[in-house]
Amino acid sequence: MFQAGDNVLRADQEEWAVEPRHVEELPLPADFFWGTATAAYQIEGGAAQDGKGKSIWDTFSHLEPSRTNDENGDVACDHYTRMLEDLDLMASYDVDVYRFSIAWSRVIPLGGRNDPINENGIAFYGRLIDGLLARNIEPIVTLYHWDVPQELYDRYGAFLNTAEFKADFESFARLCFSRFGDRVKKWCTFNEPYIISIFGHHSGVLAPGHSAAAGHDSRIEPWRVGHTIILSHAAVVDMYATEFQPSQNGVISIVLNGHFYEPWDAASEEHKAAAQRRLEFYIGWFGDPIFLGKNYPAQMRAQMGSRLPEFTTEEMTLLRKTAPSNAYYGMNHYSTKFARALPGPPTEDDCTGNVEELATNSEGKSLGPVSGMAWLRVAPDGFRKLMNWVWDRYHLPIIITENGCPCPGESQMTLNEAVNDTFRIRYFGLYLDAISRAIHEDGVVVQGYCAWSLMDNFEWSAGYGPRYGITHVNYETLRRTPKKSASYLEKSFKARRRGQ
Ligand code: NOJ
Repeated sequence: MFQAGDNVLRADQEEWAVEPRHVEELPLPADFFWGTATAAYQIEGGAAQDGKGKSIWDTFSHLEPSRTNDENGDVACDHYTRMLEDLDLMASYDVDVYRFSIAWSRVIPLGGRNDPINENGIAFYGRLIDGLLARNIEPIVTLYHWDVPQELYDRYGAFLNTAEFKADFESFARLCFSRFGDRVKKWCTFNEPYIISIFGHHSGVLAPGHSAAAGHDSRIEPWRVGHTIILSHAAVVDMYATEFQPSQNGVISIVLNGHFYEPWDAASEEHKAAAQRRLEFYIGWFGDPIFLGKNYPAQMRAQMGSRLPEFTTEEMTLLRKTAPSNAYYGMNHYSTKFARALPGPPTEDDCTGNVEELATNSEGKSLGPVSGMAWLRVAPDGFRKLMNWVWDRYHLPIIITENGCPCPGESQMTLNEAVNDTFRIRYFGLYLDAISRAIHEDGVVVQGYCAWSLMDNFEWSAGYGPRYGITHVNYETLRRTPKKSASYLEKSFKARRRGQ
C-alpha cells in the first residue's frame, strides 16, 4: 500500500483512451446510504491540545520524520478547531453518514484501564456527534485507526502483549460505548488489522515501525499482533452485545481492507490457486476467526506452522459465540493486483502466502489506469469480484467503509486544476456501477458507501503528498474548497437511488 515510488505521480490519461469505460450510473437501492470517511490522526491536528496524550504516530512522525515525508499530523487539517466548518461542509454535500475515528489518547491520554480520563477529549467527540445528528448525518465510529497511546507501547509493546492490550482496549471501548452509545449506532472496532500487523510490524513503514531491519522478529510479530486484534475485537463485541446492545440498539463489526487478486496467468491452476491463497492470507486471516468463529484458514496454518499462534479452547469458544454478533462486513477497498505463485518454498518471514503481487499479468497487460498512487489502479471489476468473494464466504451485509483515489499528478496541481477532478469522478462512477451490479446482478447485499476521504489529509508515510479528498485543503491557509467529485457524488447517489 505504501511502497517506494508511491509519490511518483504519472500523467496517464491516455490509459483511459486505450480502455474507454463509461460510467452507466446504474441504480442503487432507495435506502442505500453514503457519506465520507476520515481518521483522527489524519485530520485532527491539536496534537497536544486540551490534554491529549501522545500516540505512536506522534512519536513515529517526529522521531524519524524522513519516514513520513518529513511531515506529521501536529496540525493536519486542523479539524480539531475547525470541526463546525467541516460539519457544515458535509451537510452541504448532503451526506447520510460520516465515518470518523476516536483518538484513544485524546480521551485517555495514557491509554490504560486505570489511567485518568480526559473530559476535554470526551467533550470534543460529544460535540462532533451532536453536530452530526443536528445535521441529520449518522455517525459511524471507528475505535482504533492506528493511533495506540504511546504509553501503552512503552509499558508493554501494545499489540505484542495480548492480555494487557485486550484489557486496555476493552476499557477504552467501554468508555466510548457508555459516553457516546446513546447517539452512535454503528461501531467499528479496528481499522485494517492487516495493515496494523504487516505494515506496522513486518515492513515497518507505518508506526511503530517494526521490521527485521530494525531488529524485530518479523517472522513472529505480525501474527501475534493479528491474534491480539482478533481476540480484542471479539472481547469488545461480546461486551457490546451483552452490556450495551440491548439498551443502545446499535451494530458493531470490524473494517477489513484487501485488494482483489487476479491470477497472473489466468490459464494456470498454480497462479489461480495463488490468487485465492493471497486473499486468504489477507482477508481470511481475520475474517475466518471473526465472522465464522473458525480457526485461521487451513492454507495459512499449513504454510506457517508454529509461526501462527494457536487459539486456546476458551478463545475458540469466544470466537464462536461472538461471530454472529458482527452485524456487517466493513470493506475498505481501492484496487486489484495480479498474484503470481512464487517458485520454491516460502522465505522464513513470508507473509504473502508465497505469492508475488504484480501490476501486470503474464501478457504484460495492466488492470486499468493508474491513479496518483502507483499501487492504485482503476479496476472496478475486481471490486465487484471482491464483494462477491466476501459475500460468498461470510454472507454478511457489506458496508463500503472506504473507497477512493488521488488523481494522477494531483499533488502538483493548482487549486483550479485540483478541484476539476475528472479522474476521481470517473473512478467513483465506475466503482459505484460495480456496487450496483454486485447488488442487482449477483445478489450481494451492500448497504452503504463511504468515500475516502472527506478532505485531503495526512497520508501516513506519504505525508501530505497524495490527495484523496473530495474537498481540497490548502495546507498553508487550511482553507477547504469542494472538488467537483463532491457534487458528483451527491448528484449521482440521488439519481441512482431514484432509479431503483
Ligand atoms: C486506508 C486507511 O484506512 C486510510 O487511513 C488511508 O488514508 C487510506 N486507506 C488511503 O491509503
